Amino acid sequence: MSKKTKKPLNAMNAYRKMYPFVKPYMFRAVIAMLATIPVGAMDAAIAYMLRPYTDSVLVEKSIETLAYIPIIIVAFGVVQGAFNYFSTYMNAWVGAKITNDVRVKLYNKLLTLDAAFYDKKNSGDIQFRFNNDASTACGGLIGNVKTMVTRLFSTIALFGVMFYNSWQLSIIAIFIVVGVLYPLSTLRKRINKAMSKSVNYISELMKHYNEAFFGARVISAYNLKNRQDKGFKNTTNGIFSMSMKITQKTGMLTPIIHVIASVGIAAVIWYGTLLIVDGTITAGTFVSFLAALMMLYTPLKGMGNTYSNIVMSTMAIERVFEMIDIEPDVKNKEGAKALRGDIKSIEFKNVSFSYDGKRKALNNVNVSIDAGTTTALVGNSGGGKSTFVSLLARFYDVTDGKILINKTDIRDIDLTSLRDHISIVFQDNYLFDGTIRENITLGKNADDAEIAKAVKGACLDEFIAELKDGLDARIGERGVLLSGGQKQRVAIARAFLKNSQLVILDEATSALDNKSEAVVQQAIDNLMKNRTVIVIAHRLSTVRKADKIIVVNYGEIAETGTHKQLLERENGVYSALYHSQFKDKEHAPLQA
Ligand SMILES: Nc1ncnc2c1ncn2[C@@H]1O[C@H](COP(=O)(O)OP(=O)(O)OP(=O)(O)O)[C@@H](O)[C@H]1O
Ligand SMILES: [Mg+2]
Repeated sequence: MSKKTKKPLNAMNAYRKMYPFVKPYMFRAVIAMLATIPVGAMDAAIAYMLRPYTDSVLVEKSIETLAYIPIIIVAFGVVQGAFNYFSTYMNAWVGAKITNDVRVKLYNKLLTLDAAFYDKKNSGDIQFRFNNDASTACGGLIGNVKTMVTRLFSTIALFGVMFYNSWQLSIIAIFIVVGVLYPLSTLRKRINKAMSKSVNYISELMKHYNEAFFGARVISAYNLKNRQDKGFKNTTNGIFSMSMKITQKTGMLTPIIHVIASVGIAAVIWYGTLLIVDGTITAGTFVSFLAALMMLYTPLKGMGNTYSNIVMSTMAIERVFEMIDIEPDVKNKEGAKALRGDIKSIEFKNVSFSYDGKRKALNNVNVSIDAGTTTALVGNSGGGKSTFVSLLARFYDVTDGKILINKTDIRDIDLTSLRDHISIVFQDNYLFDGTIRENITLGKNADDAEIAKAVKGACLDEFIAELKDGLDARIGERGVLLSGGQKQRVAIARAFLKNSQLVILDEATSALDNKSEAVVQQAIDNLMKNRTVIVIAHRLSTVRKADKIIVVNYGEIAETGTHKQLLERENGVYSALYHSQFKDKEHAPLQA
């Protein structure tokens, strides 16, 4: 019982949730909806007129009705057509507007979600949900309601004509309609599970496309064509069997409905004939009734189709709101204060962090960093260095303990102002499709002198001078037209222009050849001047010069001190690293 009431409720719930999106366009939506009423109701007029026509023309052979019936039919056709066009246009307009708004809202959400969200999702899932679901949810939304309303009024009007003609036959017709609608009402349950599975498959499909695109070189280099092909085929096979399952579950509906309808019509003809013969109804009444009953097929079928569309759009709406309702863990606290002025101190107090709630990436870390100093993080790969700086920029929030900037917990600092104070150069920097200039300024207003300074600081000046378009040279999606070292320096130029006091460098020069390595190193050295720097250092020169070295091993701080202090320690971790890896080698990376 509760199950039965739940079905329509779900759709209602979904539609109610959409209300805020519909609200701005309510007036137009209502007008559009009203315009559909005559479209539906006018169907019945023709059936209605068949009665006087049959009785006077066909039975009495009178020519009287000829004067007005053709004109009325044409007039109705024209009016109905005009209303139809108007309501179709208005509904499409409202539907498209709402789709846009939902897309914008979803994209906004995407931009506010935190790193933990992106760790969990695959790119295909995001594309599917954020693009297709929005249009399925909203494009269908208004259109479905419109069709439902048209069909409903058409059905009501046709029933009116039928009852006007013969209540006895109408009762039979009601049985037919119930017999048709009942199987339809089981539709949602039938396809619910299969649908959500097929959505997963389609996300998977998108992921394959993305992999083919982003992994093109690796796929060529490692001859992964077969491997990728196999994965893709698995997914398409999954989609195939899923869609067959849906067809199995829904394909029986139409034949069943047909059988029920034909039994009903047979019953009407049988009983109708009896009624005509015993004089209860006239021939015109019967013809008019039968016409109305036949015409009922279109709206009923339409309602059936619309109903399954509503089921689809309800599911899409549910998925859309699943996304809209996600609250990122990292967000602005109410009453968070903006970080103003200089960063004077940074402190990690008993900081622990786990990505998955099980394994600790950082364990009870205590560190303090003074303004204007350079701190180098060294340690084993996977030890937690990148995690350390991710926490400081609040890509993730600490699991335990706290991080203080100027003695304030960073969770109490306004997120935007916190990030305004930090420039980060990542191991792998994302470049946007566009020009070098756009990638350096990132939408900020900067005059030519500022840009030139940043470019020079990042050692990009020579390279840019060689380009025909200079700063306005396009770099391709993700910067594919640049070399690794050039990309790195564009990222460094960004940091120069941002001119934050705190600079975080996840140094990744190990991938570069000696020459570009030296240039990038120079750029990094320039960037580090007169700032507070936390550098994940792979390079002895950087480590040596640092005011403080923190050795992060397996999520814990093994040692801290200056190069000299740490080297003097007997059996020290740093000294062991140093002696094993880069004795006498100024530029050797710290890690293997
Ligand atoms: N997004 C993530 N989700 C789950 N685990 C992660 C994630 N990022 C890193 N880890 C894990 O956390 C640990 C610390 O990783 P981290 O990236 O901080 O190491 P690292 O010291 O920067 O290493 P490297 O020098 O190789 O860059 C590793 O065991 C890693 O597998
Ligand atoms: Mg790292």
